[in-house]
Amino acid sequence: MSQLVSLVRDGNVALIVIDNPPVNALSSAVRAGILECFRAARDDAQVAAIVFLGAGRTFVAGADITEFGKPPQPPVLIDVIAEIDQSPKPTVAAMHGTPLGGGFEVTLACHFRVAAPGTRVGLPEIKLGLFPAAGGTQRLPRLVGMDKAAAMILSGEQMPAEEALEIGLIDEIVAGDLRAGAVAFAKRVVAEKRPLRRVSELDDKIAPLRADPARFDEIMASHMKRGRGLDAPKAVVESMRQTLTLDVEEASRNDRDTFVRLIPGEQSRGQRHIFFAEREAAKVPGVSKDVKARAVRRAAVIGAGTMGGGIAMCFANAGIPVTVVETSGEALKRGLDTVAKNYKTSVTRGSLTAEEMERRIGLMSGATDMDAVKDADLVIEAVFEEMDIKRQIFGALDRITGPDAVLATNTSYLDVNAIARETQRPASVLGMHFFSPANVMRLLEVVRGERTSPEALATAMAVGRRLGKVPVVVGVCHGFVGNRMLRARSIEAERLLIEGALPQEVDGALTEFGFPMGPFAMGDLAGLDVSWRMRKAQGTRAEIADALCEAGRFGQKTGKGFYLYEAGARTGKPDPEVEAMIVGVSKRLGVTRRPIGRQEILERLVYPMVNEGARILEEGIATRPGDIDVIWIYGYGFPAWRGGPMFYADTVGLKTICERLSALATASGDKRHEPAALLQRLAAEGRGFASLDEKKSA
Ligand code: COA
Repeated sequence: MSQLVSLVRDGNVALIVIDNPPVNALSSAVRAGILECFRAARDDAQVAAIVFLGAGRTFVAGADITEFGKPPQPPVLIDVIAEIDQSPKPTVAAMHGTPLGGGFEVTLACHFRVAAPGTRVGLPEIKLGLFPAAGGTQRLPRLVGMDKAAAMILSGEQMPAEEALEIGLIDEIVAGDLRAGAVAFAKRVVAEKRPLRRVSELDDKIAPLRADPARFDEIMASHMKRGRGLDAPKAVVESMRQTLTLDVEEASRNDRDTFVRLIPGEQSRGQRHIFFAEREAAKVPGVSKDVKARAVRRAAVIGAGTMGGGIAMCFANAGIPVTVVETSGEALKRGLDTVAKNYKTSVTRGSLTAEEMERRIGLMSGATDMDAVKDADLVIEAVFEEMDIKRQIFGALDRITGPDAVLATNTSYLDVNAIARETQRPASVLGMHFFSPANVMRLLEVVRGERTSPEALATAMAVGRRLGKVPVVVGVCHGFVGNRMLRARSIEAERLLIEGALPQEVDGALTEFGFPMGPFAMGDLAGLDVSWRMRKAQGTRAEIADALCEAGRFGQKTGKGFYLYEAGARTGKPDPEVEAMIVGVSKRLGVTRRPIGRQEILERLVYPMVNEGARILEEGIATRPGDIDVIWIYGYGFPAWRGGPMFYADTVGLKTICERLSALATASGDKRHEPAALLQRLAAEGRGFASLDEKKSA
């Protein structure tokens, strides 16, 4: 038998144990091993029942993603699953950890499923631009009904075992030793001569839809909100529709063909790139696996404004006690009241229980005296962007906190090294840059200062993960990675307005590209006054945004910004007043306005970002192109299925991007548009950014 899959006996029960660390992915050798062991057990007269079990931390967590894009090796998964499906002897899947994707599809071909407490099952293929084509779309609706199956497959979300038990997806939760429990379960099935429930033959949940196909479309439409226009969700719907007309075997063959077509598609390649890039980002140069993160038992946040409150919520949500410090009792109360209001909204919406809200609020304490942070293992400063204030705070924190405490600033732009120099412990100082709303956005830029120690970095990364964030290490520069690239885009967005475009045209080009929002709608949401104040402090101007602010149009909060917002509305309408204002600015600057097409808008917004990204790589501010992609997807809504800005640039071709940037530099006279040296070099060598990434799969 293969070393990765072994067959052992426990009385009349055969156990097929899959042992392919770290997550028991279904590589071709594992598939072959499963098939070989299954056949041996099936054909062994001494065996009355067969149990599938995963060794290590999880049952099989899916197909081996590194094999996608390579020539398929037999046996293919649907063939393995088809044989298990037809087993004449009872089959039991014993699940723990995260049985996902192809792993979970194997369990759906078994007659019975049992799980250890804490198991989370799911079909996450949609997140990789694919779909569960090894019978998942066929068997799941037969087992739990079309609505629940579509919800699970189209969201890709995991489901806890307790819920899976409730909806009949699993048969039993096994407390105690899973292997012993599963064997006992199998023996009971044999002893009681329980009828074998073959999922592929169930029809009671499908029959009503066959009589009412319009209901099928309704169900699908209700779960398709996020994925409209994308290949994989479309494939899911067409695949699931087959349940109405075809048997599992035949439908699975069609599914396999569709799956094979999706793999080389740009959408799936982009999403797979992000899967691996996110995991690569966890590997920080200079921070080896042996570096120990310091324990963070208590945290503190300085500042109870929007950011401070949101960051404090992250800690409370993760079960870490947190102290929030403000300068006055009034500001503190305002901040904590906002936090309580946010939690109440979640309770009203049903996404949080009242008890859980109380527990989280109970983990937060407030203070107006900085001494209150003296026991914190990690302090995050989140006051406004003024260097002098930050310096004072870090001086004080250095005196007050214990020698091992890590001190972080949530600054978006300021020099972390200068802040660190205010302390006697620059090695324990770094940036932890959250994105607004901090309790929602998953990106965390961890800013490494020139003196930051590996331990401090490891601590920030580990805490970031505990908070459910995707932490990415970046270096010190104005705006770090995300905001520095955003600035390149913002400058060009304003230029487009001056040259002839309107806000809705610029935003429209980006939403059509896949962003949830364009730059002007985003500005209105965030508040235009924030960057206005910053520009004034720096002595710079943005003609149109400044004109709007001077007219008191700060965005959604004043009901007017680049757009007009009717009372309570979150989406704005084009405003003729703004158009007149823009036309006026063009005139004042002596610019003859011209119509600007979608493609030009898109290129001028995205290519300068790519150029800035290339400079960021040259300067070593980001470690890998993939890190930049992860930052833009989790922090700025870059469409995941386009793989992030650097991956997208590769799909366009760096030569094309260089040419367009050079043309833009000439036309605008702006030297920043000259292609970065790295971009030029890669383009000349016919390479892409991917050639710089240490990654497993393209
Ligand atoms: N194929 C190949 N490699 C995989 C894999 C898969 N299906 N799932 C995980 N891995 C690798 C990761 O790349 C990582 O490798 P690295 O340590 O070299 O970076 C390692 O296994 C551990 O994964 P990681 O995500 O860091 O561990 P985790 O405990 O946080 O999460 C999972 C485990 C299984 C929940 C998560 O990896 C996951 O969601 N995997 C994808 C599952 C999936 O989409 N399956 C369907 C495929 S069609």
